[in-house]
Amino acid sequence: MSGERPDDWSPLGASILKDQRRAYDEMRERCPVAHSEFMGWSLFRHEEIAAVLADSETYSNVSQFLAIPNGMDPPDHGRYRKALDPNFDREQMARVEPLARGIAAGLLGPLHSGIEVEFINAFATPFALKTLCAILGWSERQWDCLGGWVHGSQQAAFNKDPVAGKHLASLFSEHVKANLDARLDFPNDVADTTDALMRTEVDGVPLDDDQIVSILRNWTAGQGTVAASLGILVLHLAQETDLQERLRKDPSLVPAAIEEILRTDGPLVANPRITTRAVKINGRSIPKGAHLTLMWIAANRDPRAFEEPGAVKIERDTADGLVWGQGIHFCQGAPLARLELRVAIEELLAKTKGFELVGDNDPDRDVFPGNGFANLPLRFS
Ligand code: HEM
Repeated sequence: MSGERPDDWSPLGASILKDQRRAYDEMRERCPVAHSEFMGWSLFRHEEIAAVLADSETYSNVSQFLAIPNGMDPPDHGRYRKALDPNFDREQMARVEPLARGIAAGLLGPLHSGIEVEFINAFATPFALKTLCAILGWSERQWDCLGGWVHGSQQAAFNKDPVAGKHLASLFSEHVKANLDARLDFPNDVADTTDALMRTEVDGVPLDDDQIVSILRNWTAGQGTVAASLGILVLHLAQETDLQERLRKDPSLVPAAIEEILRTDGPLVANPRITTRAVKINGRSIPKGAHLTLMWIAANRDPRAFEEPGAVKIERDTADGLVWGQGIHFCQGAPLARLELRVAIEELLAKTKGFELVGDNDPDRDVFPGNGFANLPLRFS
């Protein structure tokens, strides 16, 4: 490790982006607390990331942008989180499941034996975003526009481009507000999540339009992560045909397989924190006000936390996994994301006899802040 103003690594270096999993494994062992201009202080080890997640007083989430509830600390965070939790409860998930299953079946319908499909654009992305539109009671056609926003936002984050980021944020805001205005003009017969958000109050005050935009920005990004996860899961099953067959014969194993595959190959690279006081982590002094990045992919593959961390063992206990985070900011959308992933994989297995990767090489990976695929060519049988 180097001296006073260390730049231990270059997160956007070609060798890192070529294979993020391998690169972060290497960083975790060589330099578990590493500084870079781009990411601030990156933590790679499970134990140290878990300690940060358990201490929201020292490690703040407060963001310069309105971000509900992820960019908030207690006590505000808890108040907003509590108000939004019912959108992901059992009753809501029971409402969503048939909607998601119908969307999956519709997208898989045109597939027949021998056909080659680019899975991300033919299934993963439209499935995740059409499901969000259905939950909100918006027309399904809007998925494409939300998909453009997800893609653009990832590029703006990669390029650290505030102008593009601001432009996209205002397009997204206009889009959401048009849906809210339309709802005022033409109320829906069926209660849906747009109605629920418009009726949500925090301390007796209804959410305003900008707050709803912020919430839906987070949810839409979450659906981008669902789409990336589907690519990762399906590539694994296309290459591990024994596991694919096992799940087809016994779909009750699908949820455990999802957790374990995503533990070894995470769809989301990192989330930030800011120190509220000077701290020492793994021997390194980090000042107050420093930016930290919690490297999920590295933590979930830490051999100190998981034996044979790179091996997919679906019987493994993944309770300590950090795929969904931990502590007060644990993924609020996890019940929905888990449901969507389970339904999509169940439908894919039930409606096909098999699927395999077209070509011999792994498809190219997306890069920070994601780790999915832009393209995943599959052949169905
Ligand atoms: C496979 C898909 C997903 C993964 C792997 C994932 C992962 C995560 C992780 C790791 C965090 C913790 C961030 C932190 O501690 O800073 C988080 C937070 C969050 N996620 Fe997800 N997420 C997914 C999908 C979704 C979806 C579909 C939604 C909503 C529709 C969603 C909504 C949220 C929200 C609101 C938070 C912030 C919670 C808080 O601050 O209290 N996520 N997610």
